[in-house]
Parts: sequence; C-alpha cells; structure tokens
Amino acid sequence: MVVVGSGNVGTALATNLRALGHQVRIARRSAGDDDSIGIDGASVDADVTILAVPFGVVADVVARLGLAPGAVVVDATNPFGQPLPEGAASGVSVVVQAAGHGVHVVKAFNVLGAEHMAAPTLPDGHRPLLPVAADDATARRLVADLATAMGFDAVEIDGLADAGLLEEAARYWGLLAFRGGRGRDMVLVAHQRPPATDGPSSAAGER
Ligand SMILES: NC(=O)c1ccc[n+]([C@@H]2O[C@H](COP(=O)([O-])OP(=O)(O)OC[C@H]3O[C@@H](n4cnc5c(N)ncnc54)[C@H](OP(=O)(O)O)[C@@H]3O)[C@@H](O)[C@H]2O)c1
Repeated sequence: MVVVGSGNVGTALATNLRALGHQVRIARRSAGDDDSIGIDGASVDADVTILAVPFGVVADVVARLGLAPGAVVVDATNPFGQPLPEGAASGVSVVVQAAGHGVHVVKAFNVLGAEHMAAPTLPDGHRPLLPVAADDATARRLVADLATAMGFDAVEIDGLADAGLLEEAARYWGLLAFRGGRGRDMVLVAHQRPPATDGPSSAAGER
C-alpha cells in the first residue's frame, strides 16, 4: 500500500493502516532522508494507493505514479481554493482522467478532518460516517472494508457520478465545525431509527 503525501492526512492514514499491520510506504517529493520513496513509479507494485496531496498538484502526481490497469487509487483530496479545470464536474473526475484507463478510482477519507483519521472510533464506540464512492464494485468494497477495519462507519456509494457531493460534504463538515462553532473535534455519525411498526412514518414509505 502506498500513501502519497506526508502531511496531515497522509501521516494520519499511514499511522492507522500501519497499526492494523499493513505495509505502508509513503511517497514524497523529497524521499531519501527517511524510509519514504519518491513519487515517480511509486505505485507500480502497489495494490492500493491513497492520494493525500494538495488538489492543485494531484493530476501531475497521479500521472507520475505508474498506476497500471486494475490498480486501486483512493482520492482523499478536496478541490478547495483551486478552480476545477474547465469541463471537470468534480475533483475526483480530474483524478480519473489522470489515472487513465482501467485504474479503479475510489473517493474516500475526504469528508472529515485529518485529526479523526489515525484513530477514528470515538471513546463511546461511535464511528465517524465515511462515504466510499467508486464505479467499480470490487474496488469500492475493498476500500470500504479497509475503512471499516480502520474504525470508520463506511457507506458505499455506487458510482462516482455524484462524487462532487462528497467534496461538498467536506465543506459541510467545515461549515459545522467552523461557522457552527463545533470545532475540528466534531465528527458526523449516523444512527438508524428502528423501523416503525405503525403510524405516519411507516405509511409514508420512501421519500
Ligand atoms: N487537512 C484535513 O483535515 C483534510 C481532510 C480531508 C481531506 N483533505 C485533503 O487532503 C489533501 C492533503 O491535505 P493535508 O492537510 O494532508 O495537506 P498537507 O498537510 O499540506 O500535506 C500535503 C502533502 O502533500 C505533499 N505535497 C505538497 N505539494 C506537493 C507537490 N507539489 N507535489 C507532490 N506532493 C506534494 C507534501 O508531502 P511531501 O512533503 O511528503 O511530499 C505535503 O506534506 C488535500 O487535498 C486536502 O484538501 C484534508
């Protein structure tokens, strides 16, 4: 497994995955002074590559990784402070284009702050909600299972067509955390209401 970028997100995800026993290599611009590797060709032998770099450089970085058809690349970036290229519907569509034919792109780990990524599960046992979106069902399941093992409440989303909404969801987390005053310590968790046996909600059906 390769994590590209050694900032807030890359370090936290690598810490989590290593604690689970995964062999994780960090790909960096300036490899050499530690056990990290360079970006060029970093993903040639990797089953999973996680992108944790600024959105403004992600297309260039992806093109250099040596991703082969069948590889799984997880896009944790958010296109904030950067205009999307003309015609791009979302940040992840830029990754799909750069990754090339046959590479399975999964959008995940982008909707909450990096401080929740090394050890996501809360002391009370609640798990942060984590959407995992991809066109390829096998790649999506692989990353969802990984996220579950890491301590998230993974929700599989079939298809990347609406993945721009997941990038907006990161803004929504920020809205609640900053403008809403909850702070970066806040995570969103999901609870299911038990099915009603009678009354208006059971009669209303899906809306
Ligand atoms: N921070 C959050 O809470 C958060 C949450 C969800 C998603 N995200 C997204 O995740 C991504 C990373 O965020 P972050 O907070 O981890 O950023 P960060 O702390 O600034 O780290 C980004 C890393 O990317 C690498 N990098 C920077 N410029 C590069 C370049 N020109 N070429 C190749 N690599 C470069 C650097 O690693 P090296 O020095 O090792 O090369 C740097 O440490 C962003 O797209 C962000 O929107 C952030």
